[in-house]
Amino acid sequence: MFVGTRGRGSNLRAIHDACSRGEVPGRVALVVGTRQDSGAIEWAREAGLPIVVVEPGEGYGPRLLDALKQASVDWICLAGYLRLLPAEVLQAFPNRVLNIHPALLPKHGGKGMYGMHVHEAVLAAGEDESGCTVHYVTEHYDEGAPILQMRCPVFPGDTPESLAARVLVLEHQAYPEALRRVLH
Ligand code: GAR
Repeated sequence: MFVGTRGRGSNLRAIHDACSRGEVPGRVALVVGTRQDSGAIEWAREAGLPIVVVEPGEGYGPRLLDALKQASVDWICLAGYLRLLPAEVLQAFPNRVLNIHPALLPKHGGKGMYGMHVHEAVLAAGEDESGCTVHYVTEHYDEGAPILQMRCPVFPGDTPESLAARVLVLEHQAYPEALRRVLH
């Protein structure tokens, strides 16, 4: 399993912890980042997990695929990875790439919808509930089949930050649970 990220790494940590406790039948075989200085990469380094940084640019797809193959990765978990995965990577891992989104897809997804932008959109739409979605990844943003959704209320007076914090608690439960379901 690998977690592709440029984020702070909290979902990576939740997945790794669930694997360590034996709640998910797998292990984080490689952490792939797009930049050296992300929180996720720093945490993974301290935790002693294998890391590779593959910077986007010329030959990104083949370089990424090569890193995944060398580590014998069999599932890909994205968390805070804001790009579309290169086509050759998707083709090499059919139905084996997952991502998490901090809203109830198909609402509030698509290109540019990540992090705080998502929570701002949920509040602007006047939703009375939000949550997170773990889903399969396709060549389009946020369009793959959902595996699992978890819900929480949106309260009057919520800010994007307060809503993000409530949803993040759910994310850390949802990603390991979705992995349990697909890895059985
Ligand atoms: C998570 O909240 C995840 O839902 C979001 O990025 C964050 C990464 O945090 N992803 C998206 O918005 C995708 N559209 P993390 O690095 O702490 O796991």
